[in-house]
Amino acid sequence: MSTLFTDIGELWVFDSEAGTSVLRDAALVVDDARVAWYGAAADAPEADDRVGLEGRAVLPGWVDSHSHLVFDGDRSAEFEARMAGQSYAAGGIAVTTDATRAASDARLRELVAARVREAQRGGTTTLETKTGYGLTVDDEARSARIAAELVDEVSYLGAHLVPAGWDADDYVDLVVGDMLEAVRPHVSWIDVFCEEGAFDPEQSRRVLEAGRAAGLGLRVHGNQLGESGGVQLAVEMGAASVDHVNFLADADIEALAASPTVATILPACDLSTRMPFAPARRLLDAGANVAIASNCNPGTSYTSSMNFCVGTAVLQQHLTLEEALRAATLGGAFALRRTDVGTLRVGARADLHVLDAPAAIHLAYRPGMPLTHQVWRAGARIA
Ligand code: NIG
Repeated sequence: MSTLFTDIGELWVFDSEAGTSVLRDAALVVDDARVAWYGAAADAPEADDRVGLEGRAVLPGWVDSHSHLVFDGDRSAEFEARMAGQSYAAGGIAVTTDATRAASDARLRELVAARVREAQRGGTTTLETKTGYGLTVDDEARSARIAAELVDEVSYLGAHLVPAGWDADDYVDLVVGDMLEAVRPHVSWIDVFCEEGAFDPEQSRRVLEAGRAAGLGLRVHGNQLGESGGVQLAVEMGAASVDHVNFLADADIEALAASPTVATILPACDLSTRMPFAPARRLLDAGANVAIASNCNPGTSYTSSMNFCVGTAVLQQHLTLEEALRAATLGGAFALRRTDVGTLRVGARADLHVLDAPAAIHLAYRPGMPLTHQVWRAGARIA
């Protein structure tokens, strides 16, 4: 079954080898869940079905490479206090952990499923999410299992916070021992919050080494609240991505520019924590790989809107439209070491984000407007 999408006002095709092309008056053919052809609408081949898009812009679906969707509980009071002047600290994670442990499996599954649907309605077609609000062997394993039922990529973040009453090194023993063994069947990544108030670089290294030995890919939360050493550790250990990157020394930027480790910026988190924005312009100018992700979580960034993140990156972080779109599609895919998504090259998974606008610049030009018109994943309409 093939489908011709035609009358596309602006078609963005990101290709890691051929670069970015933007076609006007374009068409695209999907066959067997993959992109089979794209080009000028006048040259489009016949197909079994036809979807006319009335001049709208089409992008690859967003690849959101950083979220924390497995949680229960409300932290809006903490947010309100922050807006009144308090600063963010890692300790708020414990509040969510208590609520998450208390939730039934069914409730937690429904909460995660609702958040996934919400992200999809915003144009996200590939989603990573993490454990990290369980912090016991059973609760982390349950979070990982539920996440694996509902999202594409699951990261184990047992090293999110040292739970109350634990010695940090004893807790790391648990994270790299029984907890890792319990989550292993459900996850493909290991992550660690390398930050003052969470895990120091040596503890973080132990976590990453154990994950690597178990066959997991590596991710790091680094340099969110200060120069934590997370970036240097991530680069040294060949992590796929280091996320947050708000506080970077020149040496951090140089190390990222010289490595395949992606610097993942989280614009909504920077706004919601009133942190200085990650220096995305400097990272790109230095030649680093950059991704944009939502970091949807109850503490620091309670939104899965990649439209908002992309608009903010353009408006506030001085990315060009092309840089921001690329970072939220192909950049996210590279942060997850995926080659089948974040692109509309021939052969890619047919993940299409149709905007209710003739051009993608409307994401920044009309901030906050409901611009997602249709979302297709693997050739099937999901929103
Ligand atoms: O990515 N930085 C660590 N983890 C989350 C925040 C979690 C929370 O405060 O609940 C983040 O921002």
